[in-house]
Amino acid sequence: MPVKLRLVAAHRSATLEAAPGARLYDLIRGAGWPLGSSCRGEGVCGRCALQVEGPAAALTPEGEDEARLKRREGLGPDAVLACLRAAAPNAEDLELSVTTTYW
Ligand code: FES
Repeated sequence: MPVKLRLVAAHRSATLEAAPGARLYDLIRGAGWPLGSSCRGEGVCGRCALQVEGPAAALTPEGEDEARLKRREGLGPDAVLACLRAAAPNAEDLELSVTTTYW
């Protein structure tokens, strides 16, 4: 069973199924939800920051590029950049709650 992403906004929510390796950026935008980006998912703008709650094993780990970009953009250590993270290859039956500051 794939990872489930529960998108939570002020007045709506949705649940997406994330196949192993699927980028959060592609899943969220593909579902028609707005997601900030001025680099089209190239990992350089930091606008796609999310707040994610749930088991860390559900996502690929933070890499040095993401950590550096978060520091540069003044994002907190818990922020997840949607274009640089994906459903973990071996994650099953895990659910994450996902939101942003602007949903
Ligand atoms: S969309 Fe630009 S860093 Fe993710």
